[in-house]
Amino acid sequence: MNVPEHIAIILDGNGRWAKAKGMPRTYGHTVGAKNVETICRAAHDLGVKYVTMYAFSTENWSRPDDEVKALMKLLGEYIKTCMRTAKKDNLRVRFIGDLTKLDDKLRKAIDELTEYSSQFTGLTLTIAINYGSRDEMTRAIRKVASDVKDGKIEVESIDESLFGTYLDTKDIPDPDFMIRTSGEQRLSNYLLWQLAYAEFYFTPVAWPDFSPEELKKAVEEYDKRNRRFGGI
Ligand code: IPE
Ligand code: IPE
Ligand code: MG
Repeated sequence: MNVPEHIAIILDGNGRWAKAKGMPRTYGHTVGAKNVETICRAAHDLGVKYVTMYAFSTENWSRPDDEVKALMKLLGEYIKTCMRTAKKDNLRVRFIGDLTKLDDKLRKAIDELTEYSSQFTGLTLTIAINYGSRDEMTRAIRKVASDVKDGKIEVESIDESLFGTYLDTKDIPDPDFMIRTSGEQRLSNYLLWQLAYAEFYFTPVAWPDFSPEELKKAVEEYDKRNRRFGGI
């Protein structure tokens, strides 16, 4: 089977999943957070090398305060768990997004996990937090402009590959496959540049129910796609 090297996942539907069970939205987030580990292991077993998960967008700050707080708390807990499981799962964890907006304690934990897990050689999991593709590109353009101003680069040397090195994703290849759960069929400001030639897969299954079997089904669908990159 032709397995994608890199899968980008928009893990969506936690809130509606919980509501359907008569539970508070945060219950959906708790179950959803646990599923991250399960799906990473399953992806690794399938031969996937990179998984990039959308955990919190630049727009998600507009949610009620208690939900934002609960999501940040879950993230902190996930990081703690990961400090224990990264070795066992041979998992390297990285983060993208504007992390300067997060509180100091969380940022410190993020730095520690990134540093500690950099030694592992299995799956690379990238977690997008306070991530928005437009924000990422705007930050990149500012940096490019400032490097031109400081004489570090020439305007003429700016091309697609140089611009890519200014993005948060500079160290990882572009995704081959994008999965969004919960029936929504949009990108919601996710990896607009990087997904230029990715195959898209939308499933009605909500993230807390997205199982290793569902992942396998998605990858089997990817295997049937014919990627042409503009050729014939
Ligand atoms: C995805 O689930 C998790 C985040 C966006 C943080 P949602 O919270 O968006 O769940 P729905 O889409 O409201 O059901
Ligand atoms: C996208 O999901 C962001 C994440 C999954 C982190 P949302 O649930 O926030 O997206 P919209 O609002 O439905 O577009
Ligand atoms: Mg949603």
